[in-house]
Amino acid sequence: MNKKELIIRALEAKENAYVPYSKFKVGAAVLTEDHSIYTGCNIEIASYSPTICAERTAIFKAVSEGHRKIKAVAVVGDGDLTHPCGVCRQVIREFGKDAVIIVANSETDYKVYTLDDLLPHSFGPEDLEEIRGEDYV
Ligand code: THU
Repeated sequence: MNKKELIIRALEAKENAYVPYSKFKVGAAVLTEDHSIYTGCNIEIASYSPTICAERTAIFKAVSEGHRKIKAVAVVGDGDLTHPCGVCRQVIREFGKDAVIIVANSETDYKVYTLDDLLPHSFGPEDLEEIRGEDYV
């Protein structure tokens, strides 16, 4: 996996952030199982709650194009390292149980986590599968 490329794509996506309220720009890039890259930025809405984070924008773009497995996510925010929020961690869990999460300031300044580092003892699709005997994954 090319971590630097993913970080560069996240930095580019950050430029499209629509953040009139917080002024806090975030960009994300996700790598799918077939090595496609989808990017996203945060988008804020005047009534606040519909606001979406950069990570979820990128993941939902990938999923809506038919992808179901995410191998890596790169996130770049404003200022120091911006770690994914709790909601985004759960969304990453859905499609990337074994994903690598790269939290970056730049191509050379970043930290790498597993999803389990950020969301230990997580709940996910397999838990429902056990109960209902259906294949959600
Ligand atoms: N935000 C993200 O896009 N990703 C994160 O991981 C943390 C927070 C956004 C949401 C909101 O637009 C702004 O940052 C301030 O919370």
